[in-house]
Amino acid sequence: MNNIIDGTKASFEIRKNVKELIEREKIQPVLAVIQIGDNKASDVYIKNKKKACEEVGIKFEYIKFNDTISENLVINEIKRLNNDISVNGILVQLPLPNGFDEGKIINEINPVKDVDGLTYQNVGNLVLENDCLVPCTPLGVMELLKRYNVNLSTKNVCLVGRSNLVGKPLIQLLLKENATLSICHSKSRDIKSYTKIADVLIVAAGHPNLITKDMVKEGVVIIDVGINKEGNLLCGDVDYDEVSKKASLITPVPGGVGPMTVACLLKNVVKAYKIQN
Ligand code: GUN
Repeated sequence: MNNIIDGTKASFEIRKNVKELIEREKIQPVLAVIQIGDNKASDVYIKNKKKACEEVGIKFEYIKFNDTISENLVINEIKRLNNDISVNGILVQLPLPNGFDEGKIINEINPVKDVDGLTYQNVGNLVLENDCLVPCTPLGVMELLKRYNVNLSTKNVCLVGRSNLVGKPLIQLLLKENATLSICHSKSRDIKSYTKIADVLIVAAGHPNLITKDMVKEGVVIIDVGINKEGNLLCGDVDYDEVSKKASLITPVPGGVGPMTVACLLKNVVKAYKIQN
């Protein structure tokens, strides 16, 4: 049974399209990534972003601060990047170390350079269904559903997780496709009563094996956004081996949503370039 949603394949197609567009239009988009403090997972994500950018012809500028830096100096750097017309995208890698005000820092980014789609302006425009820069992981999820012909109109979609980066923007994107939503989170009682009736189940909770086979119905479409480390292995939020037996479509971890996040970042950098030029 081939019910696997191949995010690696889809991401390569997107990356190829972005590369061809950059070559055809002879443009040189630039992405600046700011990292504050040390975080092993962030190191890996940033390395992947750098490699993907360079492969398609996006210039990657990496700015690293110690966690002893003051918020004001970080903000000064963001202002410098806002004013530098050669820089098209600015991304502050999250999570920030303790003591940094995420909202305050992110909202210093000029919304037209906010390739993570996290500033007030982009969040507001997403809610109002205006064209804007949209967070990369939710974009990647929607792109996978589209590529695998999952029509969301009239479907029961259950979303587990309500983060600013994934769950909340997904609510808007799913509503736009006329999905009927239930949103579960860490304070929800009896999650199973919602997951069990879902035609499409999207899980972004950050808990390995949160979703077990008794919690889903036969034929469900599963999008697993979780990236958890179990020893040396990566796993999602879904008990893949068992749940995949009941799913009509399912994303593996790794190789599902993860590669799509990076591919959609590349698309967002080009979109930001076009908004600015
Ligand atoms: N940390 C984990 N995923 C992301 C992301 O998509 N953007 C940022 N800025 N930080 C992250």
